[in-house]
Amino acid sequence: MARHLITSAIPYINGIKHLGNLVGSQLPADLYARYLRGRGHEVLFLCATDEHGTPAELAAAKAKMPVAEYCAEMHGVQAEIAKGFRLSFDHFGRSSSARNHKLTQHFAGRLHEAGLIREVSEKQMYSHADGRFLPDRYIEGTCPNCGFDSARGDQCDNCTKQLDPVDLINPHSTISGSTDLEMRETKHLYLRQSTLKDQLEAWIDSKKDWPILTTSIAKKWLNDGDGLQDRGITRDLDWGIPVRDGEKDWPGMEGKVFYVWFDAPIEYIACSQEWVDAGKGDNWERWWRTDKGAEDVTYTQFMGKDNVPFHTLSFPATILGSGEPWKLVDYIKSFNYLNYDGGQFSTSRGRGVFMDQALEILPADYWRWWLLSHAPESSDSEFTWDNFQASVNKDLADVLGNFVSRITKFCRSKFGEVVPEGGAYGEQEEALIADLAARVAAYQGTMDAMEVRKSSAELRAIWVAGNEYLQSAAPWSTFKEDPEKAAMQVRLGLGLIRLYAVLSAPFIPDASATMLKAMNAEGAGWPDDVAGFLAGLAAGHAFTVPDVLFAKITDEQREDWQTRFAGVRT
Ligand code: MF3
Ligand code: ZN
Repeated sequence: MARHLITSAIPYINGIKHLGNLVGSQLPADLYARYLRGRGHEVLFLCATDEHGTPAELAAAKAKMPVAEYCAEMHGVQAEIAKGFRLSFDHFGRSSSARNHKLTQHFAGRLHEAGLIREVSEKQMYSHADGRFLPDRYIEGTCPNCGFDSARGDQCDNCTKQLDPVDLINPHSTISGSTDLEMRETKHLYLRQSTLKDQLEAWIDSKKDWPILTTSIAKKWLNDGDGLQDRGITRDLDWGIPVRDGEKDWPGMEGKVFYVWFDAPIEYIACSQEWVDAGKGDNWERWWRTDKGAEDVTYTQFMGKDNVPFHTLSFPATILGSGEPWKLVDYIKSFNYLNYDGGQFSTSRGRGVFMDQALEILPADYWRWWLLSHAPESSDSEFTWDNFQASVNKDLADVLGNFVSRITKFCRSKFGEVVPEGGAYGEQEEALIADLAARVAAYQGTMDAMEVRKSSAELRAIWVAGNEYLQSAAPWSTFKEDPEKAAMQVRLGLGLIRLYAVLSAPFIPDASATMLKAMNAEGAGWPDDVAGFLAGLAAGHAFTVPDVLFAKITDEQREDWQTRFAGVRT
């Protein structure tokens, strides 16, 4: 028994995420959490909404709502959808929580004390009409390079040239439209990450087992150009965590907030405090403080590749720089991108399938299975409706669903809804059990290694082995000459359903629960010993025939969905 802390990158609050976001962090994290719980480990699985920063402000303004209200509402929406996908967070927190305010200010104070903060004066665009400094993307004007009239302060969308707001011709605020702008002096706090470079590099070099995707991105940022840069950790915004020096005011920093990427990862820790506050746990320190028991916790983070620099460098710099005994991550599992039908998923253009829409058309297991079995691990992967239909119909309906339905229905018709006795296993059965034992070991190996696609392939192979056995044992023919033998074959088949239910739970939790309920075997533990596990479903045990586990996707449905999701989200 080990203790596992698992976090998924916390999704931005501004809107519902698409399936590409889901498969890049929350879903594989859930797979791993469910697997480890299934194996009997103690797991704390945390996620939250990432609520600060300009995108949250912009989205609230667009919804014509006060930002705090908008965030509260969207948190509720995201929590509901997470439930729909059966994401088994022990707590789904909020980066805007009082706990995160306090902890973020605490870290800033510690970093300050350690001499790791410097104040920098810089010039930034100030809008008189809006009464605020404008982040680059709130400023638009004419591109000096191509003449495009709505180039943003950071980049021209027409010619892609990187810009500075001062480069723009006739710049204006996108909030008020005002052109009454001036470059004004403003002071910000910078975290002196550069002084932590050697420490960070040694730590990353010590992680020999990390995926290449993770370490190559970290290395690139450590050594690119002039090496690791200090970074600004404050912003001139209203919405966010007020800049404070621990419990004290920070002179000169009045009215400023911490940068969203400074406070968001700290929410991983604050979330465990929220978990305690919610009455779901009683001790967060044993998960996070190496002086309070967390030294034997294994901490794994899941995220998309764009998040890797923040988790390999910035957040560890915060933790190490604090000089306090916080738990550092042990393993970072990162993902490439999932594309959608020949292009990219796009939140701004509403292209692709979003989490709420997915659940409107099919139950969670269908999506979970496809997404996990096509997870963008070694490279980007692509969602197409053809592939989705083929994979659901074949793997879930033909292989798994059909197996369950055939064996339970056959048993009911010949022996009733109880496990029949039959004789001892023959050669064929012994061979199947040995094969399954080896396959289960392989499945455990890939699951332990968080190799998501390989794990799905191992699981599918386990389902296929049962199907092939059933096909060749053919109890429906055996029954005619040797009912006793047919009974034994059916008993094994029913045992396989219970085995599949437990093994498949991390991927398809609802179908798994249906199978367990039908087999009257809720609470079955992990099959550490496959033969023993199969024997565990004894003769005389009552079961019921479950409803169809997976319906096939028809060609009409596929075509309908393909058109429906090609365009703009309405
Ligand atoms: N909200 C970010 C994203 O979706 C992820 C933040 S992860 C954290 O890309 F570490 F900052 F919490
Ligand atoms: Zn341009």
